[in-house]
Amino acid sequence: MTMPEPHQALKTRFCELVGVRYPIIQTGMGWVAGSSLVIATAKAGGLGILASATMSLDELKQQIEEVRSATDAPFGVNLRTDVADIDERVALMVDAKVRVASFAQAPRADLVTQCKEAGLFVMPTVGARRHAEKVAALGVDAVIAQGAEGGGHTGQVPTTLLTSEVVDAVGEDVCVLSAGGWSSGRGLVAALALGADGIAMGTRFLLSSDSQVPDEIKKQYLATSVTGTVVSTRIDGAPQRVVRTDLVDRLEKSSWIRNLPRSLKSAHQFRSESGASLMSLLKEGKAMKEGNELTWSQVVMAANAPVMTKAGLVDGRTDVGVLPTGQVAGVIDEVLSVEKIITSVINEANATLDRLSQR
Ligand SMILES: Cc1cc2nc3c(=O)[nH]c(=O)nc-3n(C[C@H](O)[C@H](O)[C@H](O)COP(=O)(O)O)c2cc1C
Repeated sequence: MTMPEPHQALKTRFCELVGVRYPIIQTGMGWVAGSSLVIATAKAGGLGILASATMSLDELKQQIEEVRSATDAPFGVNLRTDVADIDERVALMVDAKVRVASFAQAPRADLVTQCKEAGLFVMPTVGARRHAEKVAALGVDAVIAQGAEGGGHTGQVPTTLLTSEVVDAVGEDVCVLSAGGWSSGRGLVAALALGADGIAMGTRFLLSSDSQVPDEIKKQYLATSVTGTVVSTRIDGAPQRVVRTDLVDRLEKSSWIRNLPRSLKSAHQFRSESGASLMSLLKEGKAMKEGNELTWSQVVMAANAPVMTKAGLVDGRTDVGVLPTGQVAGVIDEVLSVEKIITSVINEANATLDRLSQR
């Protein structure tokens, strides 16, 4: 497949600053965005981001090496800022000369400075205007503005409104990548018209043949309608958009107190399986508690969340697991290769820009 020449309007400053051909990001999605997805995105001209939240430090190191050995193209790593070993993770990114540091929440000021001094492009995700203002003041290079229709943890402001608000709020020096609900070239042009420098897509890339999600689960996503998702706080205490399944309906109806013993048991089991000692578990819980001002019961829920997403996305068990998704799953009807996804988005964006300029 030949790589289409992008229309002049698609060659945004983001492409130039990061060194990618197209203004398209494949976001860091826990259990989904591993080296195979990132390599496929890099080879297709987009920016791929490894999701480190569900990897140990050693796994992250190995995945960075895998991407490095497959491509010279730039790529990023997504990090949670409330993990106990955040400093080691940032040091790893700096040592490995990863191009983009993507943060799931607002990073500490000293981490931004450290990354910037090492030449990394710093790009936290924000879900509200005030968060964008906060990270812009720290001197970040870009923000991913994720609107309410987006997958995983999400805010309340729809993507069109949030993108416009954030573009106005962060000033001219900060790039804005619009996320939440995008899957097409028409969407890319719409985001650019709102003032964004590109789009970031999660669900569209989850539903690619290059993601490791089991085929049966991909079918379940494809069968989901735009109204077939729900934002639930019952998974880890923070609002998270997931496919509405029987399990999610049950969690929504039952009280968190009743769910607590189950959460505690499986959180402990998961952490033990991943080799974490009780001491490191407690240290991690404490960092999470302090970073997010959570109660201990919320910490237990949060610690259990990766177990539930792993059960859904890796083991294909929707009876005990959840499927984080954007509403856009409802308009996606085919699993395609990453190359096909990116090529189709660019071809459609080129055609859309031609159509608009001929009117
Ligand atoms: C399965 C899944 C896992 C996700 N995990 C993370 C994560 O670990 N870190 C993060 O910053 N965002 C995470 N997100 C959010 C995405 O990175 C992205 O911002 C969002 O999916 C964009 O919306 P879209 O799905 O409509 O494209 C996740 C989303 C999904 C669907």
